Amino acid sequence: MVSIQRSYYHFVKKELDYLRSCDLYRRLNIDNCVQGSARIRHNRQDNILNFCSNDYLGISTQKQVVQTTKKSLRQISPCSSRLITGNTPELERLEDMLAVHRKTQTALVFPTGYMANIGTITALSGKNCVIFSDALNHSSIIDGCRLSDAEIRIFKHNDVHDLEQKIERVRGAARKMVITEGVFSMDGDFANLKIICDICQSHDALLIVDDAHGDFIFRGIKDRSFSGVPSYFGVNSKVDFHISSLSKALGCFGGYVATSRRMRELLINRSRQFIYTSSIPSHLCVSAMTAMKIAQRGYLQNKLFKNIEFFGRELCKMGLVGDQPRTHIIPILIGSEKNAVRFSRLLLRKGILIQPIRFPTVKKGCSRIRISVSALHTQSNILNAVDAIRYAAARLKLI
Ligand SMILES: Cc1ncc(COP(=O)(O)O)c(C=O)c1O
Repeated sequence: MVSIQRSYYHFVKKELDYLRSCDLYRRLNIDNCVQGSARIRHNRQDNILNFCSNDYLGISTQKQVVQTTKKSLRQISPCSSRLITGNTPELERLEDMLAVHRKTQTALVFPTGYMANIGTITALSGKNCVIFSDALNHSSIIDGCRLSDAEIRIFKHNDVHDLEQKIERVRGAARKMVITEGVFSMDGDFANLKIICDICQSHDALLIVDDAHGDFIFRGIKDRSFSGVPSYFGVNSKVDFHISSLSKALGCFGGYVATSRRMRELLINRSRQFIYTSSIPSHLCVSAMTAMKIAQRGYLQNKLFKNIEFFGRELCKMGLVGDQPRTHIIPILIGSEKNAVRFSRLLLRKGILIQPIRFPTVKKGCSRIRISVSALHTQSNILNAVDAIRYAAARLKLI
């Protein structure tokens, strides 16, 4: 008789062999940051230029944030969930700041952006609810949809006609919900937010925007605060739920939802990912509040946009991207998983770290190199990356 352990041994071996055979196997690296620089120690290699961090403004190692956080450290963790004894004054202050930042009545912090997505989607859905989700939405949105009891309709990426047709075809649903990202995490393009808002309004659908990658970077034309993609498109007040992460442009840790007072009340009472987990420690709230003040000054975004412009121009010249990129996420489409891994390895030989992005993060055969531009990069860092990309692309006969 085959023991359970033995059957699991075969299952695990088969899974891992399969992943290796199709170039989808992942391994962990060890990375160490260098304060105030885009250089890191990657495994045993010093001085590697990091072009794949989500620390878009370079705030995570800023002295002011690190020192203020250290000073505030009295307890490692509240060791309790929010509804027991984990709701601290720092959390409440951070939520007040986030609500002002996002121009909503309230905000609610979750331990991560991943949990904010799942916790919001599941609390609002259920039977007799239909969720319309963009085909390229992040895994945390996909997982939220999977965990909900709702019917899921995937609309073609950023295709507002497909969305509208799909919404029109649904009759008799008690509730409809549309979910999109603000800046798409793997493609770096903007959601067609203005039209999506109109569709939601005319079909009585609730709109959730996950702006993890646009928050603290994009600002409205009139609005001087960096409240993200909905402000940039002038539709901030038409979004019912703004979801975001504190661990991208803000360089900190945690996730949040900004919404109305009523909706917050529901999440506190119904969101399992909010209720059944420990709250984030106070010192991390202090980090986020300090980082927000730095992000609001705007000089880091100015630097970031100059870098995007410069890097984008060089990539366009090489013919590796079609149009001048509009955001800090610049994918270079490679296609096969094998070549994406090879591309990344060739870059590393030249001291440039850009990880390959493969299935299931993107579709099979759509593997890519995802460049994240940061305000920390200098022009000479970018020129080094451009040289390395030219070398790798030539070796793989992409140019
Ligand atoms: C679009 C999007 N939403 C949510 C998340 C999750 O955020 P966090 O890292 O805070 O869990 C990510 C993280 O990669 C993301 O890209």
